[in-house]
Amino acid sequence: MADLRVEKLGMINPFVIAASPATHGVNAILKSASARPGAVAMRNFRHPRGGGSLLLPSAKDAAAGKPAAQTHAPGGRLPGDWFSSLDEYEAGIAQARARMPAEVKLWVSLGAFWETVQFPDWEKDWTDQARVAERAGADAVELHFNTPGIAWARNRMFNLPGWITAATRLVKAAVRLPVMVKLPVEAVDPLQVMEAAVHAGADAIGPTARWCALHIDLDLKPGATFMGGYSGTQVLPIICQTIAHARLSGIQTPMFAGGGVYSWQDAAKLLMAGSECLQLGSIACSLGPRAVRRTIEGLNRWMDETGHSDMNSLCGKALESLRDPAKIAEKNECHERLAAARRQAQPDMAKCTACGKCADVCWFDALSVQDRKPVKTETCIGCGYCFDVCPTGALSVPGGGSLPVVGRGTKE
Ligand SMILES: Cc1cc2nc3c(=O)[nH]c(=O)nc-3n(C[C@H](O)[C@H](O)[C@H](O)COP(=O)(O)O)c2cc1C
Ligand code: SF4
Ligand code: SF4
Repeated sequence: MADLRVEKLGMINPFVIAASPATHGVNAILKSASARPGAVAMRNFRHPRGGGSLLLPSAKDAAAGKPAAQTHAPGGRLPGDWFSSLDEYEAGIAQARARMPAEVKLWVSLGAFWETVQFPDWEKDWTDQARVAERAGADAVELHFNTPGIAWARNRMFNLPGWITAATRLVKAAVRLPVMVKLPVEAVDPLQVMEAAVHAGADAIGPTARWCALHIDLDLKPGATFMGGYSGTQVLPIICQTIAHARLSGIQTPMFAGGGVYSWQDAAKLLMAGSECLQLGSIACSLGPRAVRRTIEGLNRWMDETGHSDMNSLCGKALESLRDPAKIAEKNECHERLAAARRQAQPDMAKCTACGKCADVCWFDALSVQDRKPVKTETCIGCGYCFDVCPTGALSVPGGGSLPVVGRGTKE
């Protein structure tokens, strides 16, 4: 089996379960920890119980790897927090830590957007909570700055990078625990907030792709239109880009990025973009510890099969094709080979039905249908639009258009 340990953060694997209800209250934390993730990030103090994530169109689709969107479930909230005082909170952290498998880290989340709004004395609040977490045996504290909370705070009209710097420094000075800083991608310059956290001494940063969203039901059925946090598999390329941008800009601090991870394949991509760890939010809430276990096992199996013996052999691997001049040249050559193959390809008349879809989508006047026959001219640039819309396969290139294999030796 591949070695999934993340040595920089002392974790048994890169997975961090980071969403309530899967991380709220001792019982839920123990249940999440039973999946043996690298860490469970305990929900912020003073947060109402209940709620949860809702996967659209369904959790089943997400589990099957189909595109899924995530938002907050419309379900009710239970009154009060699990812990009504800091003493109870401390006892809860200590209990969770004592009963969790020793190898699973317990991160304790601090702060939330309403701290800035409701508590003018938030510095004392965060310091007290951090000290409580440390006394109770937490392995790390996590500062929680991601959306949608952050995007709502004071209508975004405040200096978020400045607040991140101040809060990170404050907590670093208050405790000796590692300080993990979870950050938004929405409504900010992601690089700027990452740099703010890094310069303030964050031990790890967690850029997180999640947006404020309004879901509108076309029939406006009661209860079907609602606001919430929004991620889903479609945000994965955005968070991958955010990670890669940070790495290419020289940020070396360990990362626990998140947003859009619903399968081991998603997890692998995020790690290959350069994040050492990753958050599991909706998948943990909506599909439970078994899905988390399957994700960990799936990544392990795939790493084994593809010869990735440890996390160092996987983390940041996709960056090579972005920064290595030889790889960039190779990629450009692949593109050129594909374009050349498309330029040369002629419609296969045995398969053509003269439907005209190819001509309809050609913006370069390179294809027209004359006497029920598609006719291609020299002006073809090889863009490939016509190949994509041809319903019969009459337009095709060797290798089916797969970039690395197509048209080897056909370069003009
Ligand atoms: C229902 C729900 C509850 C969440 N609760 C927390 C939380 O308590 N603390 C936190 O840092 N993030 C929380 N998040 C955010 C997730 O950790 C994660 O950053 C975000 O949902 C994007 O990842 P995903 O696509 O895997 O859900 C929550 C997300 C959801 C859906
Ligand atoms: S889209 Fe395909 S089938 Fe239709 S006219 Fe063009 S080549 Fe023929
Ligand atoms: S490859 Fe592009 S330019 Fe060439 S015929 Fe097809 S659509 Fe037109």
